[in-house]
Amino acid sequence: MEDCFLRTVAEIKENQKLTKEQLQSILTDRDEAHEAALFAAATEVAEQTFQKQIYLRGLIEFTNYCKNDCYYCGIRCSNKKAERYRLSKEEILSCCDKGAALGFRTFVLQGGEDPYYTDEMICGIISEIKKKHPDCAVTLSIGEKPKESYRRFFESGAERYLLRQETADEAHYKTMHPPAMSAENRKQCLWDLKEIGYQVGCGFLVGTPGQTATEIYEDLHFMQKLQPQMIGIGPFLAHKDTPWHDRPDGSVQDTLRLLAVLRLLFPKALLPATTALGTADPKGREKGILAGANVLMPNLSPAAVREKYLLYDGKICTGEEAAECVRCLKERIERIGYTIAESRGDHPDFCR
Ligand code: SAM
Ligand code: FES
Repeated sequence: MEDCFLRTVAEIKENQKLTKEQLQSILTDRDEAHEAALFAAATEVAEQTFQKQIYLRGLIEFTNYCKNDCYYCGIRCSNKKAERYRLSKEEILSCCDKGAALGFRTFVLQGGEDPYYTDEMICGIISEIKKKHPDCAVTLSIGEKPKESYRRFFESGAERYLLRQETADEAHYKTMHPPAMSAENRKQCLWDLKEIGYQVGCGFLVGTPGQTATEIYEDLHFMQKLQPQMIGIGPFLAHKDTPWHDRPDGSVQDTLRLLAVLRLLFPKALLPATTALGTADPKGREKGILAGANVLMPNLSPAAVREKYLLYDGKICTGEEAAECVRCLKERIERIGYTIAESRGDHPDFCR
């Protein structure tokens, strides 16, 4: 007799499409052999494009000031207990120098939405990084900005931008954010970035309170229209000093299954096994790769500020130096039969 679950996996892989019922079945099926088959299909697809190579991105968390007040986020502006910091241009450049010496070819500048850094300052930082490290890619992850600002950053040399939509569903978005923020604006930013020419990364939180297969299906549908180059998903993890301090964490298993689904729907996308996944499960990042992910984002921020960029409780790798993180990740990756790529790791359609 034909196995319905296996047929579903084969159909998604073949057509790069799925129905809401298929998504529901993938998220609710508890058969271990089914899950193994889903992950095997996803890693097979990843291997066709990327072989067994994993791309590293050096994450520089350069400010934890934020004007936003997302209910789930540890660095939201209302969290008066957060110890705030900002890195200077020189400090950011020194993180890049250290990263380049360790073999990184991509730097991700991430921060809260911090108006202290004007467009001129951001452009200055980008051009300086590009001048010193012309073979490296600069990725920005600094939130919602006017299209004109995105254009200026792009013209200064930033090539990639990460902005998770968090959820594509407007009503669900409203339960996660204060009234001043909207899913519509966030999605518009993604379209603007795409139009300017960035390699665009979007994504969503898994297991936010009230999220069902309906909201997740909407995310998948939105992403099929956007066709992003990168997709970041991770479990929601509670932070003690936020309004969502007592909400249950998102599920690791759901995150892994969704990573596999994303790999089948977007064979060439860059999919990180996120720090949140590694925090929720000590083997989360390895499991993410074995479910179809192909990117890791170790922290290059100075050790002295790492503990202050606390989006959720228990975040891993806040104590180690960058070199230590790279060594540890390399070993973990090799243990599961993968290697770290030396190239910049552009999306295959953007390769120079
Ligand atoms: N300000 C930028 C932005 O809005 O895109 C980048 C920084 S923001 C902190 C980066 C990502 O952290 C968000 O897109 C969100 O999905 C994730 N994040 C925030 N709080 C989280 C939590 N409690 N659990 C898991 N991920 C979280
Ligand atoms: Fe701004 Fe989280 S509320 S980065």
